[in-house]
Amino acid sequence: MKSPDLGKDLLGLEELSTAQIQLLLDTAEPFKEISLRAIKKVPTLRGATIVNLFFEASTRTRISFEFAEKRLSADTVNVASSGSSVAKGETLVDTARNLEAMKIDMVVVRHGSSGAARFLAQRIESNVINAGDGMHEHPTQGLLDLLTLRDHFGRLDGLRVCICGDVLHSRVARSNIWGLRKMGAEVAICGPRSLLPNAVEALGVTVFRRIEEAIEWADALNILRLQLERMQAGYIPSLREYNRVFGVTREKLERAPRDILIMHPGPMNRGVEIDSDVADGPHSVILDQVTNGVAVRMAVLYLLAGGSPALAEAAKG
Ligand code: CP
Repeated sequence: MKSPDLGKDLLGLEELSTAQIQLLLDTAEPFKEISLRAIKKVPTLRGATIVNLFFEASTRTRISFEFAEKRLSADTVNVASSGSSVAKGETLVDTARNLEAMKIDMVVVRHGSSGAARFLAQRIESNVINAGDGMHEHPTQGLLDLLTLRDHFGRLDGLRVCICGDVLHSRVARSNIWGLRKMGAEVAICGPRSLLPNAVEALGVTVFRRIEEAIEWADALNILRLQLERMQAGYIPSLREYNRVFGVTREKLERAPRDILIMHPGPMNRGVEIDSDVADGPHSVILDQVTNGVAVRMAVLYLLAGGSPALAEAAKG
């Protein structure tokens, strides 16, 4: 199936137009209400079969996709590398082709290699949704972050958002930069030189070297997890030193000229990139991001399945 609005796959926000991102956010709006019902289910994707291929650890994204699929009445199957024939050496494409032989409609894939989702999309007929590929993109996280910002501020245009911390290893940062820039926001990044990509200014972002400068400038901070599992030694002197210099603490935020919205894609390293009294504080929307993830993923599934934007309200059933 090829969506008239999105094409066959959702691989990243880099290749989406402003109109397509706007459409995804607007389509997510009516889907929010379904999760508030006593019976959280509509028949919109009845008969569709969706496979969730998660070859890297995930809590939020995997469960959020599964809820989105089930709330739209799709049939779903979860496949992890451990326990599947991937553990015996089967390739990603062979796994997906064998699943396609069982007549599936969509594949949601998380993979440790950048480009894995596109590689798969070019080789199978099912719709492919990127649920995070290596250090490349995490488009549904970018969309849910945009939706959360729009909910809070009522707009994205002109908003000042600083992405803080381990930008180098972050697919969330890349999707946020593409999405925010296309929607007219001003974007900055802040972190130690060793954790910022080379030539990142070419993406149209401002670079702050000190977290205090970011706090002075921003309407919202999107604080990234220090991805210790992707690091060899030597990126930072120590976790304690990182927290002292780049950690977002209540003391640093108290010096801000305005209230700053606090976001984090999760999972958090409390006491490293973010202190608990900030993560759980009055300006945190970290759990709102998680809530919005379900509606955004329902919108992605609905549109890729050929759903009409105009009918999204009616699709609520
Ligand atoms: N934000 C995010 O991708 O979290 P998970 O790794 O738990 O899916």
